[in-house]
Amino acid sequence: MSREIEYDPFSNETLEDPFPFYENLRNSCPVHVHSDFLHPLYTLTRYEDVSEMLTNFNLWSSHYGQMPRYSVQGCLFSDPPEHTWYRKLVQQSFAPRHVAAMETEIAALVKELVDVMEMNETSDLHDALACPLPVLVIAQILGVPTEDINQFKEWSDAQLAASKSPNPADSKGPRDAMNDYLLRQLNLRRDLLQASGWAEHNPLTQQDILGVVIPDDVISGILLAEVDSRELSDTERLVMLNQLLVGGNETTTSLITNLFWRLLSEHHLYEQVVENPLLASVAVEESLRFDAPVLGLYRTNTEEVSLHGVTIPERSKVMATYGAANRDPEVFEEPNKFRLDRPQEELRKHLSFGLGRHFCPGAQLSRIEARLALEEIILRFPDLRITGDTERIEPFLLWGRKKLTVAWN
Ligand code: HEM
Repeated sequence: MSREIEYDPFSNETLEDPFPFYENLRNSCPVHVHSDFLHPLYTLTRYEDVSEMLTNFNLWSSHYGQMPRYSVQGCLFSDPPEHTWYRKLVQQSFAPRHVAAMETEIAALVKELVDVMEMNETSDLHDALACPLPVLVIAQILGVPTEDINQFKEWSDAQLAASKSPNPADSKGPRDAMNDYLLRQLNLRRDLLQASGWAEHNPLTQQDILGVVIPDDVISGILLAEVDSRELSDTERLVMLNQLLVGGNETTTSLITNLFWRLLSEHHLYEQVVENPLLASVAVEESLRFDAPVLGLYRTNTEEVSLHGVTIPERSKVMATYGAANRDPEVFEEPNKFRLDRPQEELRKHLSFGLGRHFCPGAQLSRIEARLALEEIILRFPDLRITGDTERIEPFLLWGRKKLTVAWN
């Protein structure tokens, strides 16, 4: 049974450290309703309930978006069969072999960033490494020129920061600016195609064009993409690109800051990884479980649901709280402990990348980025330590540090 518990997803106490609140909810109020918003906001916290939400897409729809407000964006924020079509497009760009092939390039980017860090005696690990790395990587994959990436990061963060605002206009400005920019990138490629004499009836295949007439990147891929004999409209292309960009930046940054924050806060953990670098990928996985960079996302139920004695009316906004499910003692031994010796079968059970049809297509990429960052840093700075206070990032459904000052001598 659910009993009333005071929990405000937007309060300063929750923002500061949501995990004790989640524990309380999981134990005593597995279906919580917060009424002080435009409409009631429900929160589910038990592993079993959250995984059921993520896999039963007929009941728990993504059609009205993943944020607390109702908004219909379409493309990946939709349900099968519509979603399946768009998903095929993304799968092409993020196929595991493409991502694995990027490892050398990502390692080179990490090294360059750490070289710059090393010129000083102390550094903010967020600004120096965790923030620029994912932006540089995604810009490279998408085909955004490096000189524009700071602007990009600003638009992407501004959209996420507006996620709790009841006013949809707050995220419109940065979204429109990003869309104008992306449309220019699409048109640039169209002009190149036209100048080369390529037209629809031309016998040239995509292989002849990509990397020759236009760059071989995701923007070009989305321009030319066709699934089941249908092309995308420009509106769809922009939504897809936007979803990829916003989805991948701040999340991967948070994975990296959270990882170092925990390892360095309990320094014996960092020392263990220095001693045995093979533990780097275990540390990344445990960080994902312990500190979910996306604490939770919303679904909308297509019919009334009765759960743990609570009735959730049809079309309610309900959060699948990955961060809470990841510390459910029914599934994880000593859930509140960051363990480098967590049993293998538990390590990848976390829900930080979601589950089922919407499982994060960027999961492998962000895991590689975090592991390479950790491997380089332990090698270069075995005595790394935190020297100042850290600060939480703002968006209420994300979890990461925006400041992590470190020293190494
Ligand atoms: C640590 C880093 C990341 C975390 C924690 C994360 C988390 C998530 C989660 C929880 C979902 C599932 C959403 C749902 O169930 O509705 C998701 C989906 C998605 N992620 Fe990630 N993500 C990360 C990195 C990335 C990267 C690097 C990219 C792009 C390059 C990306 C792009 C996307 C997209 C496009 C979706 C929507 C997929 C769909 O609905 O079919 N993410 N991500």
